[in-house]
Amino acid sequence: MNNDTNVHWHEHQVSRSKRENLKGHRGCVVWFTGLSGSGKSTVANIVDYKLYELGVHSAVLDGDNVRHNLNAGPGMLKQNHDTEFSQRFGLGFSAQDREENIRRIGAVAQLFAESGTIALTAFISPYRIDRDRVRQVNAAEDFIEVFVDAPLEICEKRDPKGLYKKARAGEIKGFTGIDDPYEPPLNPEIVLNSADNDPETVADEVVRYLRKSGKIS
Ligand code: ADX
Repeated sequence: MNNDTNVHWHEHQVSRSKRENLKGHRGCVVWFTGLSGSGKSTVANIVDYKLYELGVHSAVLDGDNVRHNLNAGPGMLKQNHDTEFSQRFGLGFSAQDREENIRRIGAVAQLFAESGTIALTAFISPYRIDRDRVRQVNAAEDFIEVFVDAPLEICEKRDPKGLYKKARAGEIKGFTGIDDPYEPPLNPEIVLNSADNDPETVADEVVRYLRKSGKIS
């Protein structure tokens, strides 16, 4: 038994709109999804830098980094935590673990948005249902789904981490696009063609969208 019923939501004195006024722009979640190697992290980081140059507060949460700390699996934590800890709380790539990975990131991203920050998340997030759950916990205008669209053949050719090669050789099981599905978004706010365009160009599309939708001026 836990004490959940004794935990109450605390209303903060500094409201979200006060924080947004202070920063001079709105907070929101920009959710990049796509295959490994499609360019999610690269584009998110370029958008982050462009926003920084515009004086906009943003933060990048990305799969490879978050899997080294918040969601670190066994052997991934560097400090203060032992293997038993990461075995209890760390996440791998089963459908269930990916679901929890996305749930946690969704919750963190929402907190960023509520602090008036633009959260840029870069996770494969292969399952539609998991992304839709994150969409639902946010206000409709706060969740911007960005499909980083590059076909498997191109991502596999790029293979920046050599993981597709390992997956084809059977050294990694359940790799997205090879032997685990990727479900593209049905109605994303933005589709970026990252196969035929360079990352800089598609990053500009995201900044333009943020302007057009009134998140930034
Ligand atoms: S997600 O599916 O839960 O959203 P996430 O974006 O956090 O994945 O992590 C993906 C990264 O983990 C990939 O870019 C790749 O470097 C690495 N990875 C390791 N194993 C797998 C796997 N089985 N499927 C996909 N990516 C994997």
